[in-house]
Amino acid sequence: MSSSTPDNPRPAVSRHQPGLLRETLAWLDLKPGLVVVDGTVGAGGHSQHILSRIGPTGTLIGLDRDPMMLNLAGAKVRGDNVHLVHSSYARLPQVLESLGRTRVDRVLLDLGLSSDQLSDARRGFGFEADGDLDLRFDITQGQPAWQLLETIDEADLERILKDYGEEHFSGAIARHIVRTRSARPIRTAQDLTAAVSAAIPERFLRDARKHPATRVFQALRIAVNRELDQLESLLSEGLSATLAPGGRAVVISFHSLEDRLVKTAFQDEKRWQNLTSKPVQASAAEERLNPRARTAKLRAAQRTEPAPRTAP
Ligand SMILES: C[S@@+](CC[C@H](N)C(=O)[O-])C[C@H]1O[C@@H](n2cnc3c(N)ncnc32)[C@H](O)[C@@H]1O
Repeated sequence: MSSSTPDNPRPAVSRHQPGLLRETLAWLDLKPGLVVVDGTVGAGGHSQHILSRIGPTGTLIGLDRDPMMLNLAGAKVRGDNVHLVHSSYARLPQVLESLGRTRVDRVLLDLGLSSDQLSDARRGFGFEADGDLDLRFDITQGQPAWQLLETIDEADLERILKDYGEEHFSGAIARHIVRTRSARPIRTAQDLTAAVSAAIPERFLRDARKHPATRVFQALRIAVNRELDQLESLLSEGLSATLAPGGRAVVISFHSLEDRLVKTAFQDEKRWQNLTSKPVQASAAEERLNPRARTAKLRAAQRTEPAPRTAP
């Protein structure tokens, strides 16, 4: 992997704790020699344990949309049998083709945001970040959130906040942003946090158990990265097409819309044997140590054997 550059910043060490680690490894059912894709390799937290279980005869293919995360992963997972690729998991079939492979034995997706991205003030993921409100995983593609907020219609913004953030005050926040943006542009995370606080009634700000801007940041991040489209695209075809019969997929999601997409896909009995009728969630002990794990839902499925051909 290349080293850090100003365009490709790298925090010194990862602070991300892989969620549902024990459960993920158990459901992946790893053995030496397997070919495993970690479609959201992040800082390599899950991947380093996967690599030690598949051993030198196995192959690990790690994808991430964020070059900074690939740099971090490169410090933890390396070797002749490791391929780290800058790509969305939605392009998994094309990535495999470029590596001269068509089928793999396991695929892991651990969706959403890494704590390393959250703590990088230049990306705008944290509420108090003073860098541009970007919110993209891959800054070479798409539109940063601050630009979206400059031009988006009030109705479209309200829908994003409601659908992707389940934000109770979506209408008031969208209205406030659209009314005030020419006088006070929303350029940084701090600007967005201030705009949300100004739009929400005072007593709800005081009562909030989460930071009042949590849902708004989540909604805008999902929108600028088209996160649901990426997941839908892989689930519709690429995932089942690239897994060998008997191969397994494990998906950890943090949003009810993502979890619903995964649940529905794994119910397709022509392609999948659903292994988790209910989502697996973090133990109370893990939730105490890693609050991010509280909303994690893991689902696993096994690729079914293709039906035998019937004689003409
Ligand atoms: C929760 S983190 C993964 C953490 C990782 N499992 C670990 O233990 O270090 C999610 C990662 O997925 C990446 N990501 C999000 N959407 C992606 C996509 N469509 N394709 C590839 N990577 C994506 C993010 O950049 C982030 O690094």
